[in-house]
Amino acid sequence: MKATGTANGKIILMGEHSVVYGEPAVAIPFPATSIETTIKKITGPVTLDCFFYHGPFSQAPERLLNVTTVIMKTLEKLQQPLENFSITIKSTIPAERGMGSSAAVAAATIRALFNYFKKELTTACLMELTDISEKIAHGNPSGLDTAMTSSQSPLFFIKGQPIIPFSLNVSAYLVVADTGVTGQTKEAVNSIALLSQRSPEKTTAAIHTLGKLTRQAKLAIEQNRPADLGVYMNEAHHLLDFLGVSNKELNQLVAAALATDALGAKLTGGGRGGCMIALADNKTSADRISAALLKAGAVNTWIHKMGED
Ligand code: MEV
Repeated sequence: MKATGTANGKIILMGEHSVVYGEPAVAIPFPATSIETTIKKITGPVTLDCFFYHGPFSQAPERLLNVTTVIMKTLEKLQQPLENFSITIKSTIPAERGMGSSAAVAAATIRALFNYFKKELTTACLMELTDISEKIAHGNPSGLDTAMTSSQSPLFFIKGQPIIPFSLNVSAYLVVADTGVTGQTKEAVNSIALLSQRSPEKTTAAIHTLGKLTRQAKLAIEQNRPADLGVYMNEAHHLLDFLGVSNKELNQLVAAALATDALGAKLTGGGRGGCMIALADNKTSADRISAALLKAGAVNTWIHKMGED
């Protein structure tokens, strides 16, 4: 009479936004963003209990449209009515920080519903349903966040192509910092689309260069060249800023990381808030960068040893 479903968030190392335009991205599963959905038997109308809302499913606010739609679509697939259960969604971090929590919420909830109704869930069906939620959340998703909800290892991802697991065997640490400001993935994705209408050549060139930097970063990882990886991260951040998807808080944290020991630093994910990442040579540096980021206004930091994915 009770079932759960879980899913991971992700950190994009390189390639956010340009991945929407067919360029590659490298992303890492990030257990700090794990989501757990629980379905329990009750009598009567369905209730929803999550970070933003507690109450009847039928009165859930507009900002949860991606979640409510994916629940309806999943029930259609399962041929089950919308009644006699409660839905509780728990997240280990606040939503909308560019860590893929919207895709993870969808995937965890789809899994929980399939478990509750004791139906087998294929990966293709999970992807199809998660994508419905992502289209509402982001407008034009590349599919990267959806792919990451089911991946236990880092991925080299190109939209529409087979997903390639990829080992981040580079001797370095990643420091992730949360600006505390809600990210705006949908707005950021839309603003690049608008920019590409207004200045097609400059926008296409920036997107293409971001793709080139991601491929160079992949090579730097494979050849264990962390200093070069840091340089590519810095260049990527400048281009993302040029494309209008950074903001004051992200730029401040990037500057604080670089003023400490970071080999490189950039925003991660949708941008305009959310999180940034910094690359550190060793654990002592990572600790120093983390302290500097907290001092510069980050509300939370995580340290991730690369290669232990
Ligand atoms: C969002 O986590 C990543 C973006 O590249 C959008 C997408 O890939 O769908 C900004």
